[in-house]
Amino acid sequence: MADIITLDDVSVVFEHGGRLVEAVSHANVHVEEGEIFGIVGFSGAGKSTLVRTINLLERPTSGRVVIDGRDVTTLRGAALRELRSGIGFVFQSFNLIDNVTVAQNIAFALKAAHVPKAQRRPRIEELLRLVGLEEKIDSYPSQLSGGQKQRVSIARALANHPRILLCDEATSALDLETTEEILALLKRINAELGVTIVFITHQFDVAKAIFDHVAVMEHGVIVEQGTTIDVFGSPRHETTRALVERYLGVAIPRQLVPQLPSGRLIELRYKDEGAFEPLISDVSRRFEVSINVLHGNVGYFGTQAIGTLIVLVSARQEGQRGAFVVQAAIDELSSRVADARELSVALNDDIGASVDAIFVDDAYDAKPPAAASDAYDGVAYDGDAHKEVLA
Ligand SMILES: Nc1ncnc2c1ncn2[C@@H]1O[C@H](COP(=O)(O)OP(=O)(O)OP(=O)(O)O)[C@@H](O)[C@H]1O
Ligand SMILES: [Mg+2]
Repeated sequence: MADIITLDDVSVVFEHGGRLVEAVSHANVHVEEGEIFGIVGFSGAGKSTLVRTINLLERPTSGRVVIDGRDVTTLRGAALRELRSGIGFVFQSFNLIDNVTVAQNIAFALKAAHVPKAQRRPRIEELLRLVGLEEKIDSYPSQLSGGQKQRVSIARALANHPRILLCDEATSALDLETTEEILALLKRINAELGVTIVFITHQFDVAKAIFDHVAVMEHGVIVEQGTTIDVFGSPRHETTRALVERYLGVAIPRQLVPQLPSGRLIELRYKDEGAFEPLISDVSRRFEVSINVLHGNVGYFGTQAIGTLIVLVSARQEGQRGAFVVQAAIDELSSRVADARELSVALNDDIGASVDAIFVDDAYDAKPPAAASDAYDGVAYDGDAHKEVLA
């Protein structure tokens, strides 16, 4: 499938207090037409900056932005406005204008794209039907729930039939149930309208539910990218591991650790139909080792499953021969799963690292919403349009 978005060696450098900050460093991204492409990473990783280069809300310091095969990096004026009107933007904080109705909020975007007045109301009705909010057309944002506000903001983002929808933490301010509703809506928009979606999130549940491809960012760098099942099924980078660990909930009660027989602790991951049961019994029989299952979990990524198992492999006999068969058994186990790694028996090191990551992430949840100035960036209308619609 052809790329609809290509970021070619894109870097963004900010000057802040006399210091240069490289918010994005040499990023290469290929988004295929019709897919849902995700970007994950901890706070400050550069996710928003990267996504904002796609519609040039942030202009790359170096590198190229190519949309539909056309280099748009240096577009300005009317050409830039036209590009932006074909790219919808949805924010965590909804960015609706409080003192006008739902209809008027959407009308701004139509006005900005020079849609004649007579065509606006029918289009607004159509958009609200799409997001399931027809009856709220004349309500004010303050009369809506968070999920309803986000539906309005999605309707507004879709007003001018964009082929690309950028979502920056679009579900992060919503509860679990509402998040699921919004994700279902976005999936439907993706499938039925063929809109390509680029979605930033730090919520692993969101990532694994809707992303086709995912890029993991850390300190401005894309440290890992690929299909969601590959990246999360066999994480290579510690940031990805921390995200996956948190979701799969790998933890062995501390008090159990001293009671474990001596042996080596191995974490195994399988994808899809792989089954541990026959593998464990097969290997323990053939290699004369004991394999204790300490923890097991299965997580679903769309329709695909990733299973995690932590096992303790111990020899049935002492000495060198014992160590040898344990190694052979571990090699065999590793060769038959998607991913395997050894955990230190002083488990707290490994578990501690993911717990630290979780605390970092929780602090991030408490972050205040994006600056109000963003409200006007994504929808590409100006102050005069605002006045006229109100008048
Ligand atoms: N306009 C700016 N001027 C100076 N520095 C900036 C600017 N915008 C972002 N940065 C810096 O660039 C880095 C990346 O910021 P960015 O907002 O892209 O991260 P993020 O991954 O979206 O974080 P979060 O998850 O908290 O939204 C941070 O160090 C941030 O402080
Ligand atoms: Mg951000």
